[in-house]
Amino acid sequence: MIDQTMSASALSGPPVSRWWGCFPELRRDTLGFLLRCHAYGDVVKLPMGLVLELLLRQRDAAMYVLNHPADVRHVLVTNQDNYRKAPVAPAESRIFGQGVLHTEGEIHHRQRRLFLPFFHGNHVTAYADLIVGKADDLAAQWQDGTTIEIGQAMAHLTLSVIWRLLFGREVGSEATTLRETIAVGQRLIKLQYDSLFASLTPLWVPTQLHRQFTRGFRTIEAMIRRLIDERRTATRHGDDDMLSLLFSARDAEGRRLSDEEIRDELMTFLLAGHETTANALTWTWFLLSQHQSVWEQLTQEVNEVVGNRLPTAADVPLLRYTKMVWEESLRLYPPAWCLHTRLALAQDRLPSGAVLPSGAWVFVSPWSLHRNARWFPDPTRFDPERFSEEAKDARPAFSYIPFGAGGRRCLGESFAELEGLLILATLASRIQLCSVEGQTIQLEAGMTLRQNVPIRMTVQRLGSSEPHPAAT
Ligand code: HEM
Repeated sequence: MIDQTMSASALSGPPVSRWWGCFPELRRDTLGFLLRCHAYGDVVKLPMGLVLELLLRQRDAAMYVLNHPADVRHVLVTNQDNYRKAPVAPAESRIFGQGVLHTEGEIHHRQRRLFLPFFHGNHVTAYADLIVGKADDLAAQWQDGTTIEIGQAMAHLTLSVIWRLLFGREVGSEATTLRETIAVGQRLIKLQYDSLFASLTPLWVPTQLHRQFTRGFRTIEAMIRRLIDERRTATRHGDDDMLSLLFSARDAEGRRLSDEEIRDELMTFLLAGHETTANALTWTWFLLSQHQSVWEQLTQEVNEVVGNRLPTAADVPLLRYTKMVWEESLRLYPPAWCLHTRLALAQDRLPSGAVLPSGAWVFVSPWSLHRNARWFPDPTRFDPERFSEEAKDARPAFSYIPFGAGGRRCLGESFAELEGLLILATLASRIQLCSVEGQTIQLEAGMTLRQNVPIRMTVQRLGSSEPHPAAT
């Protein structure tokens, strides 16, 4: 940390293209590039290049990567009112509309006030039995020796949970359409972030991807509209799912929410609420399959706490080591590898001394913070002991932010943790998952931190003695 003021022009960063700025490097190797930025100090300046300066009509337009937790706290918490979310890719904006993820100011405050009680205390733990039941059903379907795609399995599981949370009913045959459409949406959003041309091409231009995207999302919207209409005509007493919460909500003038507003919120929670958790679980199973001693410690804890019965919400606080594994997995592979870029409304001096100009694009990346050797020595090593109480106390606050921070901190954090821990405990007491040999898994920085190829794993039912030949 430096103790003197550093103007934006004094900040440095890796060499970038004069015309295209940092984007070619970011596109080539986003995650590696962010790690290489550690060498350039607490705040790294990444010019956006002449082309974007012209388009944005902003001289010296640059992104600023924050590498110091004190600066992260300042931007996300202490002086958060000076920052707003930067515009997002057109496909992203089309999906989330005016849902809580993308709004600002008073509207956003009102939305958070509505949702916060929904994600608190007993209301969240009430979903424990549902989560465990679904995980148990999944484990029962898997035969000993079967090979599964763990990412797909976790996505279907978390989708079935979120669908119940949103609509109070089981997801049916629509699950496949939903997953396929989300995959298309993710491809298009990545393309729009990677290519200026793609981001400027309107969605009505009939490229193959645009057509698939529009068709798929219209289908999902039609499903959601049908569910809204059904509920409107037949309100069921005692419903406490998100749809009934949205029906009972009133805006500042006492008006009911429009169908459009309800749709935007449901779409937001549908996507934000299952893809991330599925991703975290997938990485956790992968890590467990590579670290036998961690797996043994985790199963020992699950056996001691849960034994032969199914886990309950009351077990969760006792699953301390399982939680350390979950947290370490979110450190190494944070599903939200970067937060939404923030825009500085006015010039701001950060605790590190760097001065961000008005209009600065501020980049906070959990991936990059979590792999900074200053806060996490030997950062690529998987070591759940980093999350013992003592180790956590020894680290600066805001060096670990898988759920963001401040007024835009993840609304579903406690739900995600409950879901993650209960799924791990339920499955770990019944099966072991072993990676199929010979797979080369690489990271892909899309909307979430994904694997470049599906991870295949072999199921070994616990109690069956011999390890499977396909397993590592
Ligand atoms: C492991 C799972 C999850 C991770 C890693 C995660 C991560 C995040 C992060 C980093 C943010 C902040 C983005 C920013 O500041 O730019 C966020 C926001 C949000 N998350 Fe999550 N999330 C997870 C699960 C969930 C779940 C289960 C739900 C809902 C059921 C959810 C709903 C939301 C919503 C609505 C926001 C927007 C909050 C706002 O802007 O006020 N997330 N999430």
